[in-house]
Amino acid sequence: MATINLTVNGKSRSVDVDADTPLLWVLRDQLQLVGTKYGCGIGSCGACTVHVDGLAMRSCQLRVEQIGEQKVTTIEGLSEHGDHPVQRAWLAHDVPQCGYCQAGQIMSASSLLENTPHPSDVEIDAAMNGNICRCGTYTRIKAAIKSVNA
Ligand code: FES
Repeated sequence: MATINLTVNGKSRSVDVDADTPLLWVLRDQLQLVGTKYGCGIGSCGACTVHVDGLAMRSCQLRVEQIGEQKVTTIEGLSEHGDHPVQRAWLAHDVPQCGYCQAGQIMSASSLLENTPHPSDVEIDAAMNGNICRCGTYTRIKAAIKSVNA
C-alpha cells in the first residue's frame, strides 16, 4: 500500500492503494468517477480512455504510480455541464446507442480535436482506431467529429 497524490479533474486527490493499481480502478473504485468504463483491461477497446496532460490514454494500462504530476481528466471533468463542443456534437448527431463505449470515444475525439482542429478522414481513423463500439456507431462518430470545427 502507498499513498498516491493525483490531480484529477483539476482537484488534488490522495488515495491509499497498491502503487501498481491501474489508474482505471483508482478512478472508478477510489474516486467514484465511474464514467470511465472497463471493457477489456488489456488496452484493446478504448472504453477506459482518459486524458493525461491532454493526451488520450488507456487508463487500464497506466499504473497509478506512473501519473505523478501529470493532470488526469475524465469524462466528468471534460466540461462543467456536459457542454464541451464534442459532447454537443455527440448530441446533435445522436451518436450513442447503448452508450457504454461513448465516454472513451469522446475523450479520444476531444484529444484529437485539441491537437488537430480540422482532422482529415485518415487522421480521424488513426486517432479513433483503438476505440471499439459494439453497436457500430462509427459513421455517426466520424460525422460528429467533423462537425465540431466546421
Ligand atoms: Fe482499457 Fe479496454 S478497458 S482499453
